[in-house]
Amino acid sequence: MDQKPAIIVTGASTGIGAYSARALKLDGWRVFATVRRDEDRTTLEAEGIETFLMDYTDSASIHALVDEVLARTGGRLDALYNNGAYGQPGAVEDLRTDVLRLQFETNVFGWHELTRRVIPVMRAQGHGRIVNCSSILGLVPFRWRGAYNASKFALEGLTITMMMELRGSGIEVSLIEPGPIRSEFMANCLKAVEAHIDLENTVHKVEYARQLKRLRGELSGAKGKLGPEAVYEVLKHALTSPRPRPHYIVTKPAKRGVLLKRLLPSRLFYRIMGSLG
Ligand SMILES: NC(=O)c1ccc[n+]([C@@H]2O[C@H](COP(=O)([O-])OP(=O)(O)OC[C@H]3O[C@@H](n4cnc5c(N)ncnc54)[C@H](OP(=O)(O)O)[C@@H]3O)[C@@H](O)[C@H]2O)c1
Repeated sequence: MDQKPAIIVTGASTGIGAYSARALKLDGWRVFATVRRDEDRTTLEAEGIETFLMDYTDSASIHALVDEVLARTGGRLDALYNNGAYGQPGAVEDLRTDVLRLQFETNVFGWHELTRRVIPVMRAQGHGRIVNCSSILGLVPFRWRGAYNASKFALEGLTITMMMELRGSGIEVSLIEPGPIRSEFMANCLKAVEAHIDLENTVHKVEYARQLKRLRGELSGAKGKLGPEAVYEVLKHALTSPRPRPHYIVTKPAKRGVLLKRLLPSRLFYRIMGSLG
């Protein structure tokens, strides 16, 4: 049996997941990466990373992934990094229910389903690490991000509760809450807004035009953003430290947001947050 610690990393086609899968391999892990397209699978496999097709909205693909990983490791799994997700922009009043549901299918329900498959394995072996990539938007609100906000707030609630319930099992659970990080995230937000929000028949038409301009501007330059290595630094800590932290907030803007929430009266805090973006 391969004695390297084994980890599943989801959403490894781009951004934080792609960086983390490669870095973990270099750091001596046996990495089982997941993507959604054959071409992404081929790229990672060519680098020696065992890669699977898995979509969080497809239950069968989640179960097939875990079955195959366990078959390859002889039933062992040391860590799970839930990372693959997307952001659905749009004002709350413009979110169709099916669009909101899809956001939760990916960012919450799929993560929960994969995690539930992994917990019995970790319980049986008496150890394991589960790291969920949330967001600063799992801790503070942001206009036009209601669906994503809600999905990451839900993820925070489930993850912290699970962390308390798993105390004493040998399974450690952590959340990473990044602020803005260079990746395909914004490009994918743009696709999601164009696919799912009626940008014309809405009281927010003018605001959307402004937002889209800003989003496209952000895509052309990654000014001031940290790269995925900033997230990897804390992921490593969450996976290997004897005392992993419940929360890892990454980037200065994210830390500022949390501090302001703690210090300011709610009304003032929400007024400030409501003027951003
Ligand atoms: N970048 C940021 O500023 C930022 C800030 C805070 C939190 N985060 C969080 O960081 C994590 C990684 O995002 P990123 O910044 O690296 O963005 P990214 O470059 O867009 O990567 C997202 C990954 O998730 C995958 N994915 C999307 N929908 C999926 C689904 N239904 N099932 C399985 N995988 C799916 C994507 O696959 P495809 O290529 O097939 O679409 C891609 O591999 C996410 O959880 C995100 O919420 C990012």
